Amino acid sequence: MLVLGIETSCDETSAAVVKDGRKVLSNIIASSLKLHRQYGGIIPEIASRSHIETIAGVTRKALKDAGCSLGDIGLICVTANPGLIGSLLVGVSFARALSLALKVPLKEIDHVSAHLYANFLDGKTPELPAVGLVVSGGHTSLYYLKSIRDCRLIGWTVDDAAGEAFDKVAKILDLGYPGGPVIDRLAKQGNPRKVRFSCSAFSGALNFSFSGIKTAVLYYARGKWDRRRVKLKDIAASFQEAVVDNLTRKAIAACKEKKVRTLLVGGGVAANSRLRQVLTEQAGANRIKVYFPKPELCLDNAAMVAANGSIGYSFGAQRLS
Ligand code: KG4
Ligand code: ZN
Repeated sequence: MLVLGIETSCDETSAAVVKDGRKVLSNIIASSLKLHRQYGGIIPEIASRSHIETIAGVTRKALKDAGCSLGDIGLICVTANPGLIGSLLVGVSFARALSLALKVPLKEIDHVSAHLYANFLDGKTPELPAVGLVVSGGHTSLYYLKSIRDCRLIGWTVDDAAGEAFDKVAKILDLGYPGGPVIDRLAKQGNPRKVRFSCSAFSGALNFSFSGIKTAVLYYARGKWDRRRVKLKDIAASFQEAVVDNLTRKAIAACKEKKVRTLLVGGGVAANSRLRQVLTEQAGANRIKVYFPKPELCLDNAAMVAANGSIGYSFGAQRLS
């Protein structure tokens, strides 16, 4: 069956055609990021207006690249939550209209858990049960996937998300938006042991907290930073190392608690090169097989939404026709 995915939760307008929930035939992503950069973060009103202008063209291109037409689509899956309300509204209204016109069922998908289903695309078949770690700009969550349709939340952030911490630290250090990719690049030349940053230990065994480390970087940058001894790249590397260490320890602890040997990672921060390296090493040392989506499937995209709706848990199918 050919499934059309639609994702408009933040600044990316994305449409994808996925075959049988596993094979990506097309995955078009248009981003309004350049319109937001001057403000240092996403402006919701600009994002939703941009979705309205882009969504029809992006969907047309997804169908064309997949070599099919709307008449070939058997299911439509759309991100319904969580995200920017105006942005979500555009995608959901568009998908509902298509569903009604084509008399094709519609599934509404949770965008956070959808990040995990990117790991089932392109010929990969991870063994279940598994633990899932979603690290994005808005969420940091641990899931227990008992089976492909049984995905339960077992850990979350009590304050900021991991990606949010990268973005805010980049802002403090005047590195621009989004912060993740630039800190990732800069940290490669820095010394991760130059400054001692750490994530709060008070969040609980499987929960996360990143607001403390963000404030620690702020005070360090404004206070005792000796610029002759410690370079910007050292701060970036030291901050990143502390976040990566925290994410790795909690993900491995969750695998041990649930007695599973598969770890699925997803979300924008899953593109981080140091996280990929350390998690792969630590998972290997604990005989856990870790899966990361390829970088373009880490960020928000409609292929993961289509995969989630076809093979995984969703809020439920609606036949609007
Ligand atoms: O999943 P995503 O595309 O959107 C949300 O659902 O939030 O994630 C975006 C987040 C941003 O905070 C961005 O800074 C972060 O992912 N990010 C990274 C990297 N690439 C993107 N963080 C660390 N390292 C990266 N290479
Ligand atoms: Zn996301």
